[in-house]
Amino acid sequence: MITTNIELVADALKSNKLVAIPTETVYGLAANALNAEAVANIFALKGRPHFNPLIAHLKSLNEVDNVAHSVPQSAIRLAERFWPGPLTLLLRKKEIIPDIITAGRQTVAVRVPSHPIALELLNKLNFPLAAPSANPYTSISPTTAQHVHSYFGEKLEFILDGGACNVGIESTIIGFEGESPVLYRMGSIQPEEISETCKLPLLNKTESTNIEAPGMVLKHYSPKTLSIVSDDIEQSLHELKNKRVGLLLYTKTQEIPHDGPIEYLCSAGDMNEAARNLYAALHRLDHSHVEIILMQRLPNFGIGNSINDKLNRASYKK
Ligand code: TXA
Ligand code: MG
Repeated sequence: MITTNIELVADALKSNKLVAIPTETVYGLAANALNAEAVANIFALKGRPHFNPLIAHLKSLNEVDNVAHSVPQSAIRLAERFWPGPLTLLLRKKEIIPDIITAGRQTVAVRVPSHPIALELLNKLNFPLAAPSANPYTSISPTTAQHVHSYFGEKLEFILDGGACNVGIESTIIGFEGESPVLYRMGSIQPEEISETCKLPLLNKTESTNIEAPGMVLKHYSPKTLSIVSDDIEQSLHELKNKRVGLLLYTKTQEIPHDGPIEYLCSAGDMNEAARNLYAALHRLDHSHVEIILMQRLPNFGIGNSINDKLNRASYKK
């Protein structure tokens, strides 16, 4: 059931149950990160393969030393600047973190979320929360409690409602080679901000074939409906003229004649607004009984790059 009762949800987590929680990026499917059985239930409900590790959510930077060792100076700088917030750091794990979370790796992914309800919840607990996005493996990530409910219904005893997520796309993931930061997943925090904070160039492994963040699997964030990304929507609409098409367009400021469903990501070019609306718009189009979702590529700068990366993965067909 959907609830706003934090106490109830904290009690469920203390008895090693699975719940959904809001974060500023997307909703997470959470359990006690120190309990391997509780964490196993996350993989089972999500249908997630065991080789794909999870993020541990902490209440503050002070907790890092409980779960990680040999933390690079660069990581501390990043945490001081961006936590609480949509940044995940890959650090050398301590014994206390069960192998199931890290898929047997020596590193653990950690972040401190900034959503006030997530923080309030974490502050009622004396353990970190393991939480992947609260969607079945490879499907569209949830940014409202209703999205989570539509996926899992009553299989989840509690979905903690924190309203619509403010950032709307998953956290930026940064690992380290020595002190050098390495980008594994694009998000709302931009590459320039990372290198500027560490005072070191950022290595890019988002396209790495030796996939070190296996969640970077190409098919991801996917609607059930066949989806296509395009730079020229009018041309693509012409090519698809006998199909029922739903449009995902960047701004409302453009005139594209179309008699099927249309979703706009923002009113006048605000990329943060576009990120915030992305998954909800995809959810609606996916339920609109069209044959094809035609998605407009965004300008390739700033968070537009990260959104385009999601569009590419949403449209990837083997
Ligand atoms: O914004 C977010 O990060 C959201 C909210 C709920 O915090 N969580 C999220 O979790 O996106 P998930 O499980 O959907 O994505 C976590 C990503 C996956 O791509 C996973 O492979 C990667 O983090 N990851 C986790 N631990 C890792 C590790 N030790 N080494 C490399 N990649 C790791
Ligand atoms: Mg995910």
